[in-house]
Amino acid sequence: KKLAIFASGNGSNFEALVTGIQQQKLAAQVVLLVCDQPTAPVIQRAQRLKIPVWTAEFKQFADKAAFETTILAQLRQHEVELILLAGYMRIIGPTLLQAYPQRIINIHPALLPKFPGRHGIEDAFAAGVTETGVTIHYVDAGVDSGPIIQQAMVPVKSQDTLASLSRRIHRTEHRLYLQSLVKILEEK
Ligand code: GRF
Repeated sequence: KKLAIFASGNGSNFEALVTGIQQQKLAAQVVLLVCDQPTAPVIQRAQRLKIPVWTAEFKQFADKAAFETTILAQLRQHEVELILLAGYMRIIGPTLLQAYPQRIINIHPALLPKFPGRHGIEDAFAAGVTETGVTIHYVDAGVDSGPIIQQAMVPVKSQDTLASLSRRIHRTEHRLYLQSLVKILEEK
């Protein structure tokens, strides 16, 4: 399976997926990074890992449809079959959803349907929950709302700071995303 990863920022999940696929010899290949932030650290990771990059600023396009039509041409050129969102900070529009039905997957750093949105870790920490976690789900037109594929629980310890909790969640993310990918590849 040929995969594209969409990311906007740091890219630790991107790197964990790329290296995990190589190490575990999965029948998958990351053929493209799509990034909407041309200065994001994830781009340097892709260059180091020799993954092709497509990047452009959203504001250079007339609207979301124009932006996604350009991305779609890139995806087709690279024969992408599955899209993994990994810290991609934009809502996927109808152009991509219709082109990749049930083939766009997202990772969220909380136990959905709890704490959707941009600040899943912070919101759970602020709410004082004793456990939170990570969710892998199919993407639909809503925000963090599609069918759930897998979840992993992460405890919040009494001595935790937001930083220590974030580190624990990110470690879980890196493991769970790869584990879900194995499951998805088996099913597809
Ligand atoms: C992750 O916590 C992911 O769940 C969220 O954005 C963060 C991206 O981190 N959607 P990174 O860029 O993969 O390091």
